[in-house]
Amino acid sequence: MELRDTYNRKIDYLRLSVTDRCNLRCVYCMPKGMPVCSSPSRCLSKETILRFVSIARKHGLRKIRFTGGEPLLRKDLIEIVRGISELGIEDLSLTTNGQMLAGRVEELKAAGIKRVNISIDALNARKYHFITGGGCLDKALESMRVAQRHGLSPVKINMVPIRSINEDEILSFAELSYHNPYQVRFIELMPVGDLSWSEKRRMLSQEVMGLIEKSYGRLVPLDVEGVSRNFRIQGASGTLGFISPMSDHFCGSCNRLRITSRGMLKTCLFSDKELKIKQRLSDKEMEELLLRAIREKPAGREERACLAKAMSQVGG
Ligand code: 5AD
Ligand code: SF4
Repeated sequence: MELRDTYNRKIDYLRLSVTDRCNLRCVYCMPKGMPVCSSPSRCLSKETILRFVSIARKHGLRKIRFTGGEPLLRKDLIEIVRGISELGIEDLSLTTNGQMLAGRVEELKAAGIKRVNISIDALNARKYHFITGGGCLDKALESMRVAQRHGLSPVKINMVPIRSINEDEILSFAELSYHNPYQVRFIELMPVGDLSWSEKRRMLSQEVMGLIEKSYGRLVPLDVEGVSRNFRIQGASGTLGFISPMSDHFCGSCNRLRITSRGMLKTCLFSDKELKIKQRLSDKEMEELLLRAIREKPAGREERACLAKAMSQVGG
């Protein structure tokens, strides 16, 4: 049975935030003053996650991305992934900061993870350290290589360009995609917390693309994959994608649901509407909750909508 919302969008993709804890403090993700690090007990249990996924699968869910915070900080992540694989969901991927991925690639793969996205916002170690609030670039790069070598591919690299902070890194990422089979994706900075900060610093996809074309010539258009418009530098082994939540709302083709680290079911990143998944719900009640969330999924987002919560809670 398929899940269709009021606007006839097929909902088959779940972004599942398994923890809001993170070992980094990226400038755009955890603005000062926002609460972080709730206790693990506030997260959904493995059993509740598996029960929800099993119900959603019957309604056509076929793809799950594990997010956080940093999902690798969740102690029972491997068991959750394995459990979901065993339920028959095959398209499983993970978004990570790559600080702890290299040594865990094999067990993740064995549990059923097919692909990874690694967030890397600078290829200069000092800059990376600054943006992430203390991260080690070499660890992220090592994770990227190990993931590629073990076939958790295509390895996607998420880069959020921020004016006067890492705008001078954009061409280094273009270069990375030229020489390596990575899919670099530039994501427009979304407003989290202090709005004026993100407005001043935001670089829209069109500007980023213009900068790259100035050095590398016209980009070759490829496909549109989910929310990413993909291109290739002529002759490159990797690709460049542009994700434009601010300049090009993709609400019309949105196929996703989200579960926040605290077990709230959300149908739109930019909406405050959330339904709580409680452990004590019966299967029937859980199914009703799911169907209600889908029915109430908004057509699109409001202009100037702002994320009320830190990305580390919502899961990106
Ligand atoms: N704007 C854009 N992207 C963000 N991410 C986290 N916070 C923001 C934000 N404010 C990205 C991270 C990660 C992905 C899950 O979301 O870089 O790659
Ligand atoms: Fe952690 Fe990811 Fe947020 Fe950075 S963007 S602080 S790595 S959750």
